[in-house]
Amino acid sequence: MARRPLVMGNWKLNGDKAFTKTLIADLKAELHGVEGCDVAIAPPVMYLAHAEASLAGCGCGCSDKGLIALGSQNVDVNVKGAFTGDISPEMLKEFGAKYIIIGHSERRTYHKESDEFIAQKFKVLKDAGLVPVLCIGESEAENEAGKTEEVCARQIDAVINAHGVEAFNGAVIAYEPIWAIGTGKSATPAQAQAVHKFIRGHIAAKSQAVADQVIIQYGGSVNDANAAELFTQPDIDGALVGGASLKAPAFAVIVKAAAAAKA
Ligand code: PGA
Repeated sequence: MARRPLVMGNWKLNGDKAFTKTLIADLKAELHGVEGCDVAIAPPVMYLAHAEASLAGCGCGCSDKGLIALGSQNVDVNVKGAFTGDISPEMLKEFGAKYIIIGHSERRTYHKESDEFIAQKFKVLKDAGLVPVLCIGESEAENEAGKTEEVCARQIDAVINAHGVEAFNGAVIAYEPIWAIGTGKSATPAQAQAVHKFIRGHIAAKSQAVADQVIIQYGGSVNDANAAELFTQPDIDGALVGGASLKAPAFAVIVKAAAAAKA
């Protein structure tokens, strides 16, 4: 089954109003007319309104509705009420966000988010009609101890056990080995493919149909130099990009590489 690749930029805690506007204008110019790859950006939630405005229309007068979708880096499990500082799925939706990152290792680490808590986020996003981008992946110590598959299976099973395998219909998984995030040390295409194949197989054990359609992105030091080779792998359906998503030319190279590899 042909899966349409998704390349998403995770801006993390970077940028300001002017940066958001400029980067989006540059991305629109770089990606004009590109087809065959879904593209999303997740600026800080603070700048969603600015991003939404900057993304509207092509700007050149053509009928291009815009290739770039909006996303967010987090969401709360609660939908309304006395939850100081939190942001609901409906709020994200109101600003046009579609792809919502959950379970990023930085949130698992700095905010002590558990697999079960992340599974709840998965559910509230699905209920709101948004697309969860579920980040999973092992630490360096777990990798060295041969526990990569065990960790990935546990993180996926938290969602399957709570909501059933069908919850992964229309969802995205981002395999991000923690040792590769922000380190410049990407997994090799063969290493990543082996884990992606395991993840798809793990889901296929419950439902082949769900496994066949689920998008599995690779993340962790993806850049303009290593992306093309990663995308040659059959189970790598795109990328979640941190550092390289802050530079329009590099991010555009990654998007074009995905479109070319999966054409
Ligand atoms: P990186 O981050 O591309 O800077 O390694 C990826 C991520 O954390 O999503």
